Amino acid sequence: MASRMGMIGCLIVVVALLNGATAREYQVGDSLGWTVPPNTSYYTNWASTKTFLLGDELTFNATGGTQTFATVSKADYDNCTEQTSYIQVEPPSTMTFTPPSTGTYYIICAVSNNCEQGQKFSFNVSAVGSPNSSASSLTVGALFAVLTTTLISFMTYI
Ligand SMILES: *[C@@H]1O[C@H](CO)[C@@H](O)[C@H](O)[C@H]1NC(C)=O
Repeated sequence: MASRMGMIGCLIVVVALLNGATAREYQVGDSLGWTVPPNTSYYTNWASTKTFLLGDELTFNATGGTQTFATVSKADYDNCTEQTSYIQVEPPSTMTFTPPSTGTYYIICAVSNNCEQGQKFSFNVSAVGSPNSSASSLTVGALFAVLTTTLISFMTYI
């Protein structure tokens, strides 16, 4: 009886973990972090390989000394307009940005000419359950099916 209660407890924990697994954290620029990139396509390439869903977090790690970032309009993004309102990233601290709604975001480094040197990227945030998110939902669904089957056979065995 006690072990069955334990199993049910396990199942609840697994379901909770799978729910949490839908929100992901991205390190902007991967190992390069947030700094002046080697070329102007670096961050655009980085963002283009990702599918961002509502609830996902973007973590800015300023690897080359203090940096800034600001979410701006498309015009300011295209023109690298210097910003007076921005978030400062002071190493070794990192700063995390969680897009508050779906849509297109434009992010630039707000100071100096870093933006002109390619320290900027734009990305789309889709709703969880949208066509863009089907791949990750499928993965979570498949994982859940496997774990449930495992738990049920384990409980039957007990
Ligand atoms: C930009 O730099 C990255 C990292 O060094 C490299 O992988 C990529 O090929 C470069 N792209 C261009 C267009 O030079």
